[in-house]
Amino acid sequence: MDTETKDSRGQWSGSLGFVLAAIGSAVGLGNVWRFPYITGEYGGGAFVVVYIGCVLLVGIPVLLAELLIGKKTQRNAVGAFRSLRPRYPWAFTGWLGVVSGFVILSYYGVVGGWVLHYVYLSLINAFSASTPDNIAGLFGALGSNPLLQIFWHGVFMVFAVTFVAGGISRGIELGNKIMMPALFSLLSLLVAYALQTPGTGAAVEFLFRPRWEQLSPAAVLEALGQALFSMSLGMAAMVTYGSYLGKNSNMVRSAFTIAVGDTVVALLAGLVVFPIAFTFSLQPSAGPSLIFQTLPIAFSQLAAGYFVALAFFTLLSFAALTSAMSLLEVVAAYFIDERHWSRKKASWLLGGVIFVLGLPSDVSHDFLGFMDGIATNYLLPIGALLIALFVGWALRHHERQEAFDGMAKPTLAYYGWSFLIRFVSPVALLGIFLHQLRLI
Ligand code: PHE
Repeated sequence: MDTETKDSRGQWSGSLGFVLAAIGSAVGLGNVWRFPYITGEYGGGAFVVVYIGCVLLVGIPVLLAELLIGKKTQRNAVGAFRSLRPRYPWAFTGWLGVVSGFVILSYYGVVGGWVLHYVYLSLINAFSASTPDNIAGLFGALGSNPLLQIFWHGVFMVFAVTFVAGGISRGIELGNKIMMPALFSLLSLLVAYALQTPGTGAAVEFLFRPRWEQLSPAAVLEALGQALFSMSLGMAAMVTYGSYLGKNSNMVRSAFTIAVGDTVVALLAGLVVFPIAFTFSLQPSAGPSLIFQTLPIAFSQLAAGYFVALAFFTLLSFAALTSAMSLLEVVAAYFIDERHWSRKKASWLLGGVIFVLGLPSDVSHDFLGFMDGIATNYLLPIGALLIALFVGWALRHHERQEAFDGMAKPTLAYYGWSFLIRFVSPVALLGIFLHQLRLI
């Protein structure tokens, strides 16, 4: 089916293609790298409960709001807001999304490059015959070698650009249809494997038994920021993906499927990382290096460790790549729709610019952390707040109700969502933002 003709923007081939691509966007480094280490830092169970609460009370409502804006307007991030409320400066929300796409993908591509380097290290069996110190040293060696990082960063970006340049159904969707089933299979194998290690009991207890006394207000805000990042919310990525939806699609069902898929993958990633970490007495609170520095030490000592390491980093590279595609698509769609660039030109040129913007993060990991902080602490929460206010207060009742089109009994669910998006989400999001500014 040719959906990518000159005068059409392209479309998902159907609901399944869309849901897979949206789960592909959501499931990324946020689930497999960030979620375990943040849960580790904030003490486990109680953080997990609060995280799930954030997904239900803010994540799902904002996700549905983004899908509604996208599907209703069939436009890119900026055009979508502008076409709904031309006279008000709401298009700023879309601009913020495009800027976030540049910022996040610039450093996301660097971490994606690390992952590819680790796929390579797994392939050449670099972890097996080495001492723990040497293995941990591999990460430092990569970090202090900008050229090596730039190389893998470039390779990662070329992959991402190639899929985006291919178009919606024949590029992004195709990539997700190949990589997402592979990701799920690898993840199931790894969970089955990890749960047989002696650290399982401690890991399950750590992840699922809340110790409320360990919960701080900072943890609650961190959980909310993590939920936004993990579900790809606050930068109109889901507006953009939603804009390629056909008329007959059920947004409410899709939103639930995406949210459940994303959360389940994060929890399963925890069930891979923590049993292995506890089996080898590694610190769950090791921070961002948990996956790159400590896990390979465990892999080197496990039976079949070669395959476990290879499966783990391959899975992570697929997760990162399908998310990177959505980050680039937000930026590309704007230039395609509004500036009338061809998809090929937009993908390669913008991918190139974003690669160059990421070079400082190859050189300095402090800079990388700084960019991540700007994105997750400011850009995404502000974006999500504006989206919630837009759908909750700028749109009218009958416009909002379109989110429930095709549902047999929308009323109760609609009022529930309406309440969450108008009151609960904005208050919670304003909370994170004020907290960032140290005002609360
Ligand atoms: N959700 C992705 C992850 O968890 C990151 C992302 C954020 C992708 C925002 C798109 C938009 O890794």
